[in-house]
Amino acid sequence: MTEARIRSPDSTNCDSVSSLHTQSNDSEPGSTSTFRGISVRKANKSYRIGSRSVQAVRDLDLEIHEPGLVGVMGPSGSGKSTLLHLLGGLDRPDSGEIVVGGSRVDRMDESALTMFRRHGIGIIFQQFNLLASMTALENVLLPGVLDGAESESLEDRARSLLEDLGVGERMHHRPDALSGGEQQRVAIARALLFEPPVVLADEPTGALDSAASDRLWRLLEELSNERKVLVLMVTHEPAAAAHCRRLFILRDGKVADEFDTEGLDAARLAHRATRPLGT
Ligand SMILES: Nc1ncnc2c1ncn2[C@@H]1O[C@H](COP(=O)(O)OP(=O)(O)O)[C@@H](O)[C@H]1O
Ligand SMILES: [Mg+2]
Repeated sequence: MTEARIRSPDSTNCDSVSSLHTQSNDSEPGSTSTFRGISVRKANKSYRIGSRSVQAVRDLDLEIHEPGLVGVMGPSGSGKSTLLHLLGGLDRPDSGEIVVGGSRVDRMDESALTMFRRHGIGIIFQQFNLLASMTALENVLLPGVLDGAESESLEDRARSLLEDLGVGERMHHRPDALSGGEQQRVAIARALLFEPPVVLADEPTGALDSAASDRLWRLLEELSNERKVLVLMVTHEPAAAAHCRRLFILRDGKVADEFDTEGLDAARLAHRATRPLGT
């Protein structure tokens, strides 16, 4: 991976954030030469619980510079959620560099972080986090409302995202009238509203049954390939990992293994993801 792909690492202003996806989506179909993904260098993060300190992420290095669905696996407590929090600007590292879509997230001040979280990245949570009093369409448009960027074209985009995700007919329903799988699709549409180059998903199917989970993984795989978005998904499901093009295995706050999944079925992936180091 070359430095050239991670240009202007110091840029933290809104202009640079809004120019990111323009550049990432400008590329020729199939070309990833201008795609700006994720670069983590020597990241450390520890949490204090009373008098005890827990190192959640330890000298972690990670580079992903092509779009597509990429998985993060690892035992409970290995630092997966902490890594996503650092990438999403929801938490700051104690040291190290976090670069997402060309921007140094670890150096942003609060107002730059707010813009980054709204425009520079999409986040999908296990619990959907939809507002109960709003319709599906209003939920998708919420980041635009918060931004004061409501417009007809943004609303058109929200509608077409919901249609593309197979929930167009449900757009005027509130979340409690939607199935779990439908709610998660609405949350995905919301995450994609401003076309971020990178989307983070922490066990996005954790609240879904296996059939709905399988549909969602397929959808995330298609979406990331067609829209040239990097979707970084934490999962403990080998069946989900089989939809990812590449997998990172975390242990003790570090990347212990990384590999392309091509040619590996779910059973082999599960074996490789859990095997002891050095075997
Ligand atoms: N906000 C927090 N406060 C205290 N400890 C935390 C916090 N977040 C994570 N940890 C600790 O950091 C370690 C890694 O947690 P986490 O990133 O959630 O792991 P994973 O998602 O892989 O299960 C765990 O030991 C966890 O208890
Ligand atoms: Mg977690």
